[in-house]
Amino acid sequence: MRAIHISSLDGPEAVEVVDLPDPANDSLVTIEVKAAGVAFPELLQTRGLYQLKPDLPFVPGAEVAGVVTAAPEGSGLSVGDRVAALTLLGGFAERALARPDLTFVLPDEVSFEEGASFTFNYATVYFALIERGHLTEGETVLVHGAAGGIGTAAIQLAKAFGAGKVIGVVSTEAKGEIARAAGADEVVMADGFLEAVGKASVDIVVDPVGGDRFTDSLRSLREHGRLLVIGFTAGSIPEVKVNRLLLNNISVVGVGWGAYAMSREGHVGTEWEAMLPHLRSGALRPVVGATHRLEDAAQALTSLEGRTVTGKVVLVP
Ligand SMILES: NC(=O)c1ccc[n+]([C@@H]2O[C@H](COP(=O)([O-])OP(=O)(O)OC[C@H]3O[C@@H](n4cnc5c(N)ncnc54)[C@H](OP(=O)(O)O)[C@@H]3O)[C@@H](O)[C@H]2O)c1
Repeated sequence: MRAIHISSLDGPEAVEVVDLPDPANDSLVTIEVKAAGVAFPELLQTRGLYQLKPDLPFVPGAEVAGVVTAAPEGSGLSVGDRVAALTLLGGFAERALARPDLTFVLPDEVSFEEGASFTFNYATVYFALIERGHLTEGETVLVHGAAGGIGTAAIQLAKAFGAGKVIGVVSTEAKGEIARAAGADEVVMADGFLEAVGKASVDIVVDPVGGDRFTDSLRSLREHGRLLVIGFTAGSIPEVKVNRLLLNNISVVGVGWGAYAMSREGHVGTEWEAMLPHLRSGALRPVVGATHRLEDAAQALTSLEGRTVTGKVVLVP
């Protein structure tokens, strides 16, 4: 099969297409990959900067959608099932393996590209908003990076699970359109977002961006507000003066979904079950950005660092 190898830690341009034997493991689900999601961790892996550091060379790719070609007995999965799966590694290939508890039957109305864009971002955001952030009916949610993969997922999920108002924060008008299309009630520009939304006006901030907007995010929170720390695409890790938390009765909440969910068998399944009715209804529908061929993996990975990407980047073998 064709696959993508990271064989040196020289960045996304150094990834290469290789021919490998088909993977096989009787205790795992074998999937003919129709689409693979591309995310920031894979970009970081090309430089050895992600916490998961496999021996070189390795096939990256944490998430795929495709068709089951073999499944362990008792897994509840059958040959021919359309599925979405977390592969963790190995997804940038024509065939991949996944744990049965991390493989989910895809509703017919969801495409492979959408399926490969769903689990990672939406389960993270479910964990963030519902399990860590305790979103309640009618609350106002502000979403940074609102045209990105996490951002669009957060807008849709907040609306589907009862938020009263969702405000998207973006850097360009074009990204504002993406955030609006995902369901944002209001869109504001990243520069000066606090003036636009007002101090003490939101209940939850979803923050996959970090950087120098962090203090203004804290200022935007009402009493009992929560700032959900998801990532640092701006590059720098903010520091908190904790007196702000005390004075305003607000919280900064860490959201580390990956290691937490992977080490608890069935956890991601519970999140999938909770989201499934909304996936079926179309309330949750991943925004697929650019689609690249497997051969163009370098270009797909490079696009993530240019701040030009909207929605989820997908590879199609
Ligand atoms: N904690 C967890 O469990 C978990 C799980 C999944 C992902 N994550 C993390 O969440 C973050 C976001 O992932 P994503 O898939 O949503 O990424 P994405 O689609 O690339 O979106 C990130 C957004 O960040 C904003 N941004 C601001 N400054 C930027 C810069 N200097 N370079 C690039 N983007 C910049 C951009 O929006 P504007 O241009 O509009 O500002 C962009 O749309 C990543 O760091 C990822 O590792 C964490």
